[in-house]
Amino acid sequence: MKKITTHSDQETKDFGKKFASSLRSGDVVCLYGELGAGKTTLVKGIAEGLGIKDDITSPTFTLMNVYQIEPTPPRRPPARGESPTNYKLQTLVHIDTYRLKNERELLDIGVEDYLGQPGTVTIVEWPEKVEGLLKNKKVIKITLEHGEKDERTINLSS
Ligand SMILES: Nc1ncnc2c1ncn2[C@@H]1O[C@H](COP(=O)(O)OP(=O)(O)OP(=O)(O)O)[C@@H](O)[C@H]1O
Ligand SMILES: [Mg+2]
Repeated sequence: MKKITTHSDQETKDFGKKFASSLRSGDVVCLYGELGAGKTTLVKGIAEGLGIKDDITSPTFTLMNVYQIEPTPPRRPPARGESPTNYKLQTLVHIDTYRLKNERELLDIGVEDYLGQPGTVTIVEWPEKVEGLLKNKKVIKITLEHGEKDERTINLSS
């Protein structure tokens, strides 16, 4: 369990940027926290850390946004004992279930092509609403809580 407190959206992004380097192929990250807690802000930092240049917008209405991760040459070779698919990240998928009516909606737009799949990192805002899709998946859980003014406490457990 890692716990940090940030004092601005930039600090939350910076945390996301650093956290991104720990992400591996097939990882699923669940972001818990109320409206405005900073979930999407954190995703912006993670995307930047993964080398994504696109503008990250909240998938509140699209439900799922898919970003390609540009390979940044030279890609390091796999470490000893590491499977080749384990170090290559190709896709970031950002899901926001806030407006989701049921899990079927996400299945219909192809979530299973990405969730937990090699080469993909999936981040889910409001994961409480898709517990059925996430069961049997190993997830990294991050909780964001409001403090005073611009303070946010971020708890990371995996
Ligand atoms: N320390 C901080 N970390 C993150 N965001 C902060 C912080 N301080 C202030 N903010 C502001 O709080 C808001 C967080 O909004 P954000 O869209 O990231 O929240 P969210 O958790 O994704 O909300 P929603 O549930 O509506 O998707 C932004 O306006 C951001 O600028
Ligand atoms: Mg959001």
